[in-house]
Amino acid sequence: MEFTRARTEAAQKSGSASPEAVRTAEIRLPERQDRPGKVIALLNQKGGAGKTTLATHLAGELAMAGSRVTLLDADPQGSALDWAQRRLQNGQGRLYGVFGLARDSLHQEAPQIALEADYVVIDGPPRVASLARSALLAADLVLIPVQPSAYDVWASHEMVTLIAEARVFRPQLRAAFVINRRVVGTVIGREARAALADQPFAALHAEVSQRIVFADSVAAGRLACEAAPKCAAAREIAALAQAVQEMLQ
Ligand SMILES: Nc1ncnc2c1ncn2[C@@H]1O[C@H](COP(=O)(O)OP(=O)(O)OP(=O)(O)O)[C@@H](O)[C@H]1O
Ligand SMILES: [Mg+2]
Repeated sequence: MEFTRARTEAAQKSGSASPEAVRTAEIRLPERQDRPGKVIALLNQKGGAGKTTLATHLAGELAMAGSRVTLLDADPQGSALDWAQRRLQNGQGRLYGVFGLARDSLHQEAPQIALEADYVVIDGPPRVASLARSALLAADLVLIPVQPSAYDVWASHEMVTLIAEARVFRPQLRAAFVINRRVVGTVIGREARAALADQPFAALHAEVSQRIVFADSVAAGRLACEAAPKCAAAREIAALAQAVQEMLQ
């Protein structure tokens, strides 16, 4: 791609290319931009909090709204890569690129990838602190999915500590909890709310409920809104994407 760019620039300078040829070459240029895209990392050292579910859905929502999105699977388990593969096997169209990058070099690679995207979404791993640290050095916004129980909020303390450490170097790093798997028709319990109130970051108002369509769609390489357009799950993800965009403004 760089080669095409260099050739086009040389042709334009020398005036040797016809306007048509230049136009064709321009269309092939990668859309590099001066302002890099935003990097959003879904992180929680606790396993099963909903990082992959929310990362694939948030990336999908942003992509369907017309943004250029890349998802980096920073989990050695490769769940987001599996999701993308299942999608291809099932003949579903490609919504956004998913690349495996479970390396401590994430903080060097992600900003480069962000030069050609509007959003880079990182699906973080459970447990591996070195990868989480690397993701934190690249991220503009960290979302910490938690289930609505005091225990799950407390279990995210390691992540909270890592974010506090990262903020020493990157004071502009933003962070928020995202309540995931709230039981439909209930409000989150007093204990969980108290545990959240004690945290240094707020929880987004946009909460994601426990819904079978999330589990089914991820297993099938789809998004909830593709399985059931305009369903409540799709509305929740749209609200989450809206909240994320507002935080990044
Ligand atoms: N809102 C939801 N409703 C129903 N099921 C959910 C929801 N969120 C997550 N799940 C299910 O919970 C399980 C764990 O979710 P997910 O894989 O997204 O978590 P994770 O944080 O990425 O896990 P890991 O730490 O292992 O990477 C999956 O089976 C997923 O389908
Ligand atoms: Mg995961």
